[in-house]
Amino acid sequence: MAIRFSVLKCACLRSLQLLGVYMASSMSVAAEPPLPATEPHSYANPQQIRVREVALDLAVDFERKRLSGTVDLAIEHVDPKARELLLDTRALDIEQVQTRAEKGDWKAAEFKLAAPDRVLGSRLGIAVPGDAQSVRVRYSTVPDASGLQWLTPEQTAGKRQPFLFTQSQAIHARSWIPLQDTPLVRAPYRARIKTPKGLRAVMSAEMHDEPDADGRWRFEMPQPIPSYLIALAVGDLAFKSTGKRTGVYAEPSMLDRAAHEFAETEKTIELAEKTYGPYRWGRYDLLVLPPSFPYGGMENPRLTFVTPSVITGDRKLVSLIAHELAHSWSGNLVTNATWSDFWLNEGFTTYLTYRLTEAQYGQAFGDMERVLGYHDLLDSMERADVADRSLIRETPAADPDEVFSSIPYERGELFLVWLEQRFGREAFDAFLRGWFDDHAFKSATTAQFLAYLQDKLLARQPGKVSTVQLDAWLKVPVLPDSAVLPTSSALTEVEQQRERWLSGKLGTAQLPAKNWAVQQWQLFLDSMPERVTLDQLRQLDARFKLTGTSNQILGSSWLRLRLAAGDKSAWPAAETYLLGAGRMRLITPLYRALAKTPEGLAFAKQVYAKAAPGYHPIAREAVERILRGEQAGV
Ligand code: BES
Ligand code: ZN
Repeated sequence: MAIRFSVLKCACLRSLQLLGVYMASSMSVAAEPPLPATEPHSYANPQQIRVREVALDLAVDFERKRLSGTVDLAIEHVDPKARELLLDTRALDIEQVQTRAEKGDWKAAEFKLAAPDRVLGSRLGIAVPGDAQSVRVRYSTVPDASGLQWLTPEQTAGKRQPFLFTQSQAIHARSWIPLQDTPLVRAPYRARIKTPKGLRAVMSAEMHDEPDADGRWRFEMPQPIPSYLIALAVGDLAFKSTGKRTGVYAEPSMLDRAAHEFAETEKTIELAEKTYGPYRWGRYDLLVLPPSFPYGGMENPRLTFVTPSVITGDRKLVSLIAHELAHSWSGNLVTNATWSDFWLNEGFTTYLTYRLTEAQYGQAFGDMERVLGYHDLLDSMERADVADRSLIRETPAADPDEVFSSIPYERGELFLVWLEQRFGREAFDAFLRGWFDDHAFKSATTAQFLAYLQDKLLARQPGKVSTVQLDAWLKVPVLPDSAVLPTSSALTEVEQQRERWLSGKLGTAQLPAKNWAVQQWQLFLDSMPERVTLDQLRQLDARFKLTGTSNQILGSSWLRLRLAAGDKSAWPAAETYLLGAGRMRLITPLYRALAKTPEGLAFAKQVYAKAAPGYHPIAREAVERILRGEQAGV
C-alpha cells in the first residue's frame, strides 16, 4: 500500500512550476483583502499546518459498501510552532494514524476524534512532530457515508454490475477522505483505486486506460484543486471519444446515445476559450451516471458528472454541459473561498452558460433559457428564508445543502448582466478574463471580487456604479429595480397561446405544441395559472401523451402540474416516476406538490418509504425536509 516518494516529489515539482506562473501574473493585481484563515464549514487549521498534496490508496468493497485504505497528506508547517493537524471527517472508521519525517520511517501518531456535529462531522486532531512532512491515515468509510452512493445492479442501466459514485460538494469529501475539507485549501492529488474485476474506476484526474498488475487504477490531478472537486466513480463503464479533447464514459448500453447527445462539446470549449482564456485542464470528459445522481451535473475537473435525464436525443438540454464546462473557469480555476461566496461559483457560471448557449445555439435559444432561469429565481425567492434571498448572508448558513437554491445562480447572473450593461460587453468580457487569469488556481472571496471590480472597472469609469447599488445586489433580500430582466419572444408566444387556450378561445388541437422545444413546454407547464381545469389537463394529455413521456424533465413538470391541480388519478404515475428518478430538481417538486394536502402528504410519505433506499443520501435529506414541512431548498 506504500506510495512511492518519487511520484510525490514529481507532483510537488509540477505544482511549484505552476505556482511560479501565478506569482508572475498576480504582480499586476492591486492589493486585495486577504483570504480568511479559516472558514465556518471546516475544522481545518491551514493557517498553522496546511495540506499540500493528497495521495489516496483505496480498495472498493461492494459487498460491505466500504472504501478502505490510506490517505497520505503532504503537509507544510505554516506556523513552525504548531504541533496539531486538524482534519475534517464524517463517520469514518479511523484505524491508524502515522507521521513521517523526510526520508524517515512511518511512526505511530496520537490522534483524537471529536464527538460528531450533525452538519460538520468530527474534527480529527493529529499530533505532528515539527519535522513531520507527511501524515498517513488508515481508514474505512461507513455504508451510508453522505458523499457516496452504492447502487445495486438493479439501479443501473445494465442491471448486471453494481455502481459507486461520490458527490463531494459542498462538505461531503470528508465522509470518504479525512482531509482539510475547505475550498480555502487547494492541493494536487493522486490515487490508486482497487476495484473488483470487470469494473472500471474513473476520477476527476488524468487517467490510465488499464489497471496495474495488482488491479489498481491510477490517477493524477497535477493542478491544485479544492477538496470538493475530488471525485470517483466505479462501475461497468465504457468510453467513446467525441472530439480531440472530449469523450463520454457511460454504461455500455447508454454509450452511443450519450456520445450523440454530447457530440458538440468540443465546440463549446472553443467558444469559451475565445472569451475567457485557455481551457487549462487538458481533457474534458463526461461521465453519465445512473438516474439516482442527485444533481443535473457536477463540474468535477476533467470529468463532469452528469444526470442521464438530459439525454433526450435532440441535444436540447446540453446547456447543462455548457454550465459544467464553464465551471472550468468560474469555480474550478477561481474557487469560492468559503461557502458563503457560493455565488462566485454559480452566478458567474450561470452568466457564462447563457453567453455560451447564445453563441452556440443563437440568441433566441439563449433568451428562452434566461427566462426559465428567471422563473426559477422567482420561485426560489418566494420559498427561501429572507436571509437567503441576497447573494451574501449576514451570517453563514448552518448547512450549505439546506440553503441550496437558484438564488446564487440566477440572481448572481442578473448582477453580472447588470454590470455588463453598465460597462459594455467588450470591457466586461476583458474584465472577466482578467479575473480568471489573475486568480487562476486560487480561491477568492466576494470582498476580493469587489476590490478587483473597483480596481479594474469602477475606478477607471467613475460614476457608473455606486457602492449603494453594489450593496443592493449583494446584501438586500429583494431584487434591485434596476435588474435587466430577460425576455423571449418564443416564450411570450407560448404564454399568449396558453392564455387563449385557458379561456377557451383556442382548442387543444390548435395549440402548435408539436413543434415546441422542451423549454417552451417547460414554460407552458411550470407557470400554468391555477385556474386550469382537470378537464383541460386531460385534453392536453390525450393530445400530447404527456403521461409516460420519455423526456424526464417534462415528465416531472407534467406530473407536478397534475398533482398541484389535485388530480388524484396522477398518483400511480407519480409513484412510478419517484421510484425511477433521483435527481433532486425533478423529484422534489412532486413531493412538494403532494405535501400540500394532508392526504397527499400521507401518500408522499408512503412513496418515499419505498423510494428512499434508491435515493442518494443528499436527496434523502432534501425530501425529508419537504416531508417535515420546510419550504426552502431545491
Ligand atoms: N456545482 C453544482 C452542483 C452542486 C452545487 C452540488 C452545490 C453540490 C452543492 C453544479 O455545477 C450545478 O450547478 N448543477 C446544476 C446544473 C444546472 C444549473 C445547469 C444542477 O445540478 O441542477
Ligand atoms: Zn454549477
